[in-house]
Amino acid sequence: MCGIAGYIGPRNAVEVVYDQLKRLEYRGYDSAGVAYLNGGGTIHVVKRAGKLGELGKVLWDGDGTPESGGGPGGEGIDVPHLAIAHSRWATHGGPTDENAHPHFDRYGDVALIHNGIIENYLDLKGELAAAGHSFESETDTEVAAHVIGQEYAKGVPLEEAVRQAVRRMRGAFAFVAFSKRERDKFVAARNASPLIVGLGQGENMVASDIPALIPYTREVVAVEDDRIAVLERDGVRLMDLEGKPVPLESFHVDWDVEAAEKGGYEHFMLKEIHEQPDVIRGALAGRIDDKGRVRLDQVFGDHVWQDIDRVNIIACGTAYHAGLMGKFLFERLLQLPTDVFFSSEFRYGDPILSPKSLAVFVSQSGETLDSLAALRLCKQRRIRTLGVVNVVGSSIARECDRTVFTQAGPEISVASTKAYTAQCLVLMLLALHIAQVKETPGVRIDEAVADLRAFAEKAEVCLRLEDEVKALAERFKGAPLVFFLGRNADAHVAREGALKLKEIAYIPTQESPAGEMKHGPLALVEQGTLAIFGATDADVREKTVSNVREVQARGGFVVAVTTEGDDSLDGVAEAVLKVPASRSAYLNALLSVLPMQLFAYYVAKAKGCEIDQPRNLAKSVTVE
Ligand code: M6R
Repeated sequence: MCGIAGYIGPRNAVEVVYDQLKRLEYRGYDSAGVAYLNGGGTIHVVKRAGKLGELGKVLWDGDGTPESGGGPGGEGIDVPHLAIAHSRWATHGGPTDENAHPHFDRYGDVALIHNGIIENYLDLKGELAAAGHSFESETDTEVAAHVIGQEYAKGVPLEEAVRQAVRRMRGAFAFVAFSKRERDKFVAARNASPLIVGLGQGENMVASDIPALIPYTREVVAVEDDRIAVLERDGVRLMDLEGKPVPLESFHVDWDVEAAEKGGYEHFMLKEIHEQPDVIRGALAGRIDDKGRVRLDQVFGDHVWQDIDRVNIIACGTAYHAGLMGKFLFERLLQLPTDVFFSSEFRYGDPILSPKSLAVFVSQSGETLDSLAALRLCKQRRIRTLGVVNVVGSSIARECDRTVFTQAGPEISVASTKAYTAQCLVLMLLALHIAQVKETPGVRIDEAVADLRAFAEKAEVCLRLEDEVKALAERFKGAPLVFFLGRNADAHVAREGALKLKEIAYIPTQESPAGEMKHGPLALVEQGTLAIFGATDADVREKTVSNVREVQARGGFVVAVTTEGDDSLDGVAEAVLKVPASRSAYLNALLSVLPMQLFAYYVAKAKGCEIDQPRNLAKSVTVE
């Protein structure tokens, strides 16, 4: 995800913020920029698409490092004492110089960097355009800068302008801004995107994450939601959105740098599992309007949806499993015939493609070669294409006719976790969008939206199963084979649970619809064989209970993942894990992936496996 850095103090501020961005590089980004004040009170800005070195080359006119000379603070050049910097992971608009931060207000007085998403930016942009504002980038950040500038033009101090502007914005965001008219401070604001203030002696700083601050200070303040921070050389003030002062509560960080990058978690995978409540919020951000309607601006116009007669979802690995969930929903909700293909099979399978069909490409990286090749085949055959992609600016995102981004932030662990959850949610938003357009009878958008809005909190509750799951993992770390079973959507999630265990804990798995067991795989069940059942679907619960009994009759040990309020497996399965329920069978099944991800993680950990980089696998598979 994007990185934020800001500094005021006696050091060369540009060198400090550049170094801070370097320390956030592990999070992934695709462009970077810096703005600083020189002694004469002019704001300088340098922004570049690409890696930090590209920015460094322009800043220091050398090999991209401050040591190479020239640039701010170089010989005979003022040392800047206030700077902000940003590494951008594109969301609104591609990774270009123009879209890189910082952005300015209409008058060029205020420079702004921003993480997160401003949900109502299109409405705000419309209002500003009507008042004569024009924009140089495609970003929501520039809109925010103009909103702040509009407030600032009323003659108030910068912190007041930021406070008023924040009240006009909806979404999850963190800002840092400074003005050439108030050279002794900068202002930061937080609403649901991470923002950390670092307290120094005669210097203060801010960043989106702790690793950026560690070389400069270990006294930090985790800014809470709806707070504005004003940073000066000799102090930091916090206030709430009413402008009332809030006490600063700092804490001491004693993590080493590596632990700090992982947010205190031992592995990126565990961090990413725990990020899922926020990822859910991120995937929904800006996509449900005030009237409780789904709003997907990036997709085709309404007439296209009326024309589409079939959907083909094409993907690999975890993304393929998300595709299976998409099929479940598209057929259940929309009665829209849907097939799911492995990308590697699609191209050589001589697929029959209706000219009215839609090909949906699901991919975290957007660079998976098999999926890209399948996409190119569809384009040759003039089939409409839609991407569900995490990485903005990636090949699949660029080449699809339309792309909806999953907004999950960079996923570093090779085993995909948070990207899957975000993919499934985006596919649900897509299905609801189509239902809205086609006014599909029987689809209750209001209920589905209410369930989606409550989903992040349910994921938080679900993560509290961690200790129970850990104990099961410890018990079964030596299992020679594990079954993952379920019916309907539970069967699709079971496949994903199995893939996780295979890839990071190297345990063979047998995943299949529970009803299929008796047609063959049941022969593998022996005394003590572990079978994990996804059993969240109330419609087929009795059938699932029968399948559980079949496994137990052969000596199997059953762990059932079911919903709170369902007692049909209590006292039946050897262990029952309950996830919070909602009305949607799809969401209930999706939630059950969290304990399965945790199970895989803790088994791998107990076995001492290389969790973030499992053997033989790569994060992005760019070979056939
Ligand atoms: O980047 P993509 O989503 O296109 O990647 C697809 C698969 O390679 C990926 O999901 C892979 O299966 C992961 N290792 C699963 O954890």
